[in-house]
Amino acid sequence: MQARSNFHAALSVIAIALGLVAATPASAGNIQKGAETANSAGCVGCHGADGVSVTDPTFPILAGQYPDFIERALLDYQRGARTNAIMTGMAAALSKEDIKNLSAYYASLPSPLKTIKR
Ligand code: HEC
Repeated sequence: MQARSNFHAALSVIAIALGLVAATPASAGNIQKGAETANSAGCVGCHGADGVSVTDPTFPILAGQYPDFIERALLDYQRGARTNAIMTGMAAALSKEDIKNLSAYYASLPSPLKTIKR
């Protein structure tokens, strides 16, 4: 009987530990630092002061985009999986931390884009 309840206690501990792991977000970026980098690295020049580009329709709107989409795009430019005359150079200058922060920042902004939900 004792062994059985120890087993159950151990199971509870494991379940709680797994729950904590699942609840911890994958190292989220810092929104404030992302805003600073968007300015200092010059992203705002094309993608707009608030992530909504107005000067040229070929500059994608980043505001409200999923953070992992932005992160993936920037990492793909860095490793050459995605190439673009402008963005390959822009992404090359960013650290992994810059990318996390920029992704969190742009994802936090209100977007003019809509996702149709059925
Ligand atoms: C000179 C203009 C310019 C600057 C400056 C610039 N971008 Fe871009 N960006 C573009 C263009 C053009 C594209 C579309 C490229 C393509 O088709 O792959 C793009 C694409 C992107 C994408 C992919 C978006 C999507 O929907 O697929 C991300 C993310 C991005 N830029 C982030 C940044 C960040 C972060 C910075 C600053 C470090 C930056 N850009 C600076 C012009 C610019």
